[in-house]
Amino acid sequence: MTSKCGNFSKTWPLHTALVLTSLVTLSSSAFANGKAHNPDGEMTEHMQSMMAVKEDIPEEYRIMNRTPVTPDESSLQQGGELFLENCSVCHGEKGDGKGPASKAMKVPPANFLEKKHSKIYGPGEKYWLIGNGTGKTGMPAFTHLTPAQRWHLVNYIFLLQKEEKANQ
Ligand code: HEC
Repeated sequence: MTSKCGNFSKTWPLHTALVLTSLVTLSSSAFANGKAHNPDGEMTEHMQSMMAVKEDIPEEYRIMNRTPVTPDESSLQQGGELFLENCSVCHGEKGDGKGPASKAMKVPPANFLEKKHSKIYGPGEKYWLIGNGTGKTGMPAFTHLTPAQRWHLVNYIFLLQKEEKANQ
């Protein structure tokens, strides 16, 4: 054993489990990419389930890297109002995932301020998730919101993230 692999014997069962898991359930390239791109190589179970949800999202939303609706004052104001009305009960007014209904949820609602998690879903993916929900996790599908309203919400989520960064 080289010094690089000095702790091999301690960690190999974990590696084996990971390899088996990925062979059995997560053989898709999406998972492999997500793992490779994680800067610290750390992929929590929760992040793995987020990657699995991603596989349901159609390609055209996955590749979008910006919102098609300009995040101007009007868009952000509408997004803010819609957020308080529909989302803050779970995601919290600031987007920290601590809304009043969050305690009752098996999977806690996303904390948008925790960028390491939230950046797993880009703008198009967030848009798609708002309209379709995440099924397994309890994130509802907001089918009654128009496409424009969904984009205002995505713009607003990014604003919350920017404000959080500015306050740090
Ligand atoms: C009943 C509680 C609940 C409500 C209401 C709710 N969500 Fe969620 N949301 C969740 C849960 C649970 C998840 C999954 C958490 C995870 O996987 O990290 C989630 C995940 C998300 C995600 C993906 C995670 C991320 O960081 O990008 C987005 C985007 C999102 N919600 C937006 C919204 C928006 C916008 C609204 C309001 C229109 C809303 N949600 C309303 C519970 C809720």
